[in-house]
Amino acid sequence: MGETAKLIVGGKEYELPVFVGTEGERAIEISKLRDVAGLITLDPALMSSGSCKSAITFIDGEKGILRYRGIPIEEFAVGEPNFIEAAYLLIFGELPNDSKYDDFSGRLTNNALLHEAMRHHFEGFPIDAPPMAILSATLNTLSCFHIEFLKGLDDPEVFVEAAARLISKVRTIAAFTYRRSRGLPFMYPDPKLRYCANFLHMMFSAPYKQYEVKQVLEDALNLLLILHADHEQNCSTSTVRLVGSSRANVFASCAAAVGALWGPLHGGANVEVLEMLDRIRAGGLTPAQCVEKAKDKKDPFKLYGFGHRVYKNFDPRAKILKEACDKVLLALGRRDPLLDIARGLEELALKDSYFIERKLYPNVDFYSGILLRAMGIPTSMFTVMFAIGRLPGWIAQWKEQHDDPSSKIWRPRQIYVGRTLTHYVPMHERE
Ligand code: SDX
Repeated sequence: MGETAKLIVGGKEYELPVFVGTEGERAIEISKLRDVAGLITLDPALMSSGSCKSAITFIDGEKGILRYRGIPIEEFAVGEPNFIEAAYLLIFGELPNDSKYDDFSGRLTNNALLHEAMRHHFEGFPIDAPPMAILSATLNTLSCFHIEFLKGLDDPEVFVEAAARLISKVRTIAAFTYRRSRGLPFMYPDPKLRYCANFLHMMFSAPYKQYEVKQVLEDALNLLLILHADHEQNCSTSTVRLVGSSRANVFASCAAAVGALWGPLHGGANVEVLEMLDRIRAGGLTPAQCVEKAKDKKDPFKLYGFGHRVYKNFDPRAKILKEACDKVLLALGRRDPLLDIARGLEELALKDSYFIERKLYPNVDFYSGILLRAMGIPTSMFTVMFAIGRLPGWIAQWKEQHDDPSSKIWRPRQIYVGRTLTHYVPMHERE
């Protein structure tokens, strides 16, 4: 037996195996603890608990390292960022060669349309329906039109087609959601355009005028989606694994993850950041007041876009996004007052002992909204954009668990703290 951990409880000693990962991370394997010692561990919010072994993404929170299948995130940001290439890498484990890339890209092009009957689903939503509610509902609805993918995903040919359909159609769902909210006619995908350009076309073209996609914005959207593509066992990805552990299909698992991502402590933070910056710009709040409110335990206000469960130094994605904001706005010849406000807020917070002591730094959500605004994407759609980026990661993690012969249904235990044995009291005897 390799390294072990000794546990002494009630005078008894138990020896538990220690598992060491490829980057030297160590974990005590406790799955047999209840059998051998009648004990469970208690770790609400799973602060110190690993849920799985995974080969997809590696994060070192102390060093600000993020790697997709071993490749540092910074290397995806150079040259012409390509979201589909990164998606392929996360899902299939290797960077695609020309023929594999062309095949996958061709599947995305051929699957960009929604079944025509799905158009009417959008008309059924109120015009001000939350886009994340529409996305979650419509991802599940998608499975009704592709029932052949509810099973049989052990067959690689079936799985690659299902993955391509989800990744391609999520764009169309998002664009149709936006168009509906603005009372605009749906713009159908253009097979001549690549993934991100096609999305911007579906969002902003008019029946009489094709939207001209600027390369700088197409590159920025590819980069933004790459930076959101996976992040090991975050809340929404853990939701995919939890739901998928019952052998639920990939559509249902990703639809459930949309719900988790929607929360303001997770993907919903990018909307909160923009609303916070807007409030400061409108004069409703000063940066100093923001920082003070965030520190006040009696005030529920948080400095959204700051802090992270894993990154206790800096979030490498925030650094890349901050640089991209400058580059894109310069290329567009524009300034965004919210970027200046965000910078000022970051500077103020990073000098404040409250944030320093708690190792709170900007996370992926702090600057992403500035970039999305530069593309003309409304705040209401920000978390949907996060979901488009994270979808390949959700699919990759679902598949990794699906293919793992040792995977079992997730069923955590609990410690009961309620009333001990009591009995039913007939109505007439109750006080
Ligand atoms: C994402 O997990 C991932 O990987 C997620 C993600 C991904 O790619 O999937 O990276 C995407 O969700 C990024 C995070 C987006 N959320 C926000 O920006 C919301 C604001 N941030 C916080 O709510 C918080 O930092 C979390 C939720 C991100 C992390 O929370 P933790 O790890 O549970 O930490 P905590 O809430 O226990 O905070 C520790 C201390 C507390 O103070 P004390 O009780 O020690 O006095 O830091 C304080 C917190 O009050 N704190 C903040 C704060 N974040 C933490 N105080 C003010 N403002 C904040 N933003």
